[in-house]
Amino acid sequence: MNNIRALILTEYGGPSAIKISSIEAPTAGEGQVLVRVQAAGVNGLDWKVREGYVRDAFPLQLPTVLGIELAGVVEAVGAGITQLRKGDRVMGPRGGLGAYADLVAVDEANLTLMPDSLSFLDAAALPVASVAAWQSLNFAGSVQAGQRILIHGAAGGLGGFAVQYAHQAGAVVFATTLEAHADYVRGLGADHVIAYDKEQFEASARDIDLVLDYVGGEVLNRSWSVLAEDGVIVSTASPAIQANTPAGRRGLWFMNTPDAARLQSIAEDVAHGRLQSKVNAVVRFDELPEAIERNRTQPQIGKTVVNFSL
Ligand SMILES: NC(=O)c1ccc[n+]([C@@H]2O[C@H](COP(=O)([O-])OP(=O)(O)OC[C@H]3O[C@@H](n4cnc5c(N)ncnc54)[C@H](OP(=O)(O)O)[C@@H]3O)[C@@H](O)[C@H]2O)c1
Repeated sequence: MNNIRALILTEYGGPSAIKISSIEAPTAGEGQVLVRVQAAGVNGLDWKVREGYVRDAFPLQLPTVLGIELAGVVEAVGAGITQLRKGDRVMGPRGGLGAYADLVAVDEANLTLMPDSLSFLDAAALPVASVAAWQSLNFAGSVQAGQRILIHGAAGGLGGFAVQYAHQAGAVVFATTLEAHADYVRGLGADHVIAYDKEQFEASARDIDLVLDYVGGEVLNRSWSVLAEDGVIVSTASPAIQANTPAGRRGLWFMNTPDAARLQSIAEDVAHGRLQSKVNAVVRFDELPEAIERNRTQPQIGKTVVNFSL
């Protein structure tokens, strides 16, 4: 039997609920390719799934393999594969859970060829955050020059991309972050960086056309007061926004979907230096449980990536 490493969630709970195990290698089904994973991105969803916070949105049969995005090399192709071939360097969202394993079967439609100059580590940082940031920014209508946009969580995975897209579209970008990360966010193109550990964003952000809420909780609750009359809040962090939107206001819950064409164009922009992607930390496979917990307790700028070869 051909066994591989995988990071398994055995039951909902704290860091000890996930373990590295040996499992049988999957095979590629129809319309799928088998990817030998070289790197995978760490996401907030990992610990939210671990804790059981999203068990209603993502009902799971445990044990299950965690991980939602990867970069690697096509090892084998299943029936009906038209574009990809063995040996191709590919990146993409898993499309559900299961990316933290040496071999992963992925729908061909989710995958994008990696630009030649992109490393596996840089590629693994892109599939979910860069596309979710694009989709959420344009979810309530295409971003327009001159729009006033407030981005909460601007130093994070989604936030770092959203600041750049909004700036490049000519929007006036307000961005919240820790003071320690203010220079990084300014460097991405934010016009007004608000250090939330020093000041309340309500003091300087007003008449906002679009709030991108990548934080949730109190930050979301306080954001209604800075919206322009016909403004909208799009949240990736609080599904409850729909039920809790005050009368007469617009609040939308956003859920990303795989978009291989968009990912391809973003990856080209990163490869050619038109877009910055920040890999802040690289960890070994056996360090994944700690890295996932660190994402919960001390979020960092940019992304953490696991290198399968270390
Ligand atoms: N619905 C979807 O499709 C979807 C897809 C991907 C992610 N998500 C969710 O979207 C959210 C963002 O994801 P992510 O991957 O970007 O997370 P992340 O990389 O962990 O970034 C979150 C950022 O929030 C910042 N932050 C924490 N408290 C803050 C506050 N009070 N005010 C402003 N910023 C604050 C932190 O920056 P500082 O260091 O500056 O504090 C951190 O970098 C998470 O809740 C994630 O689960 C949803």
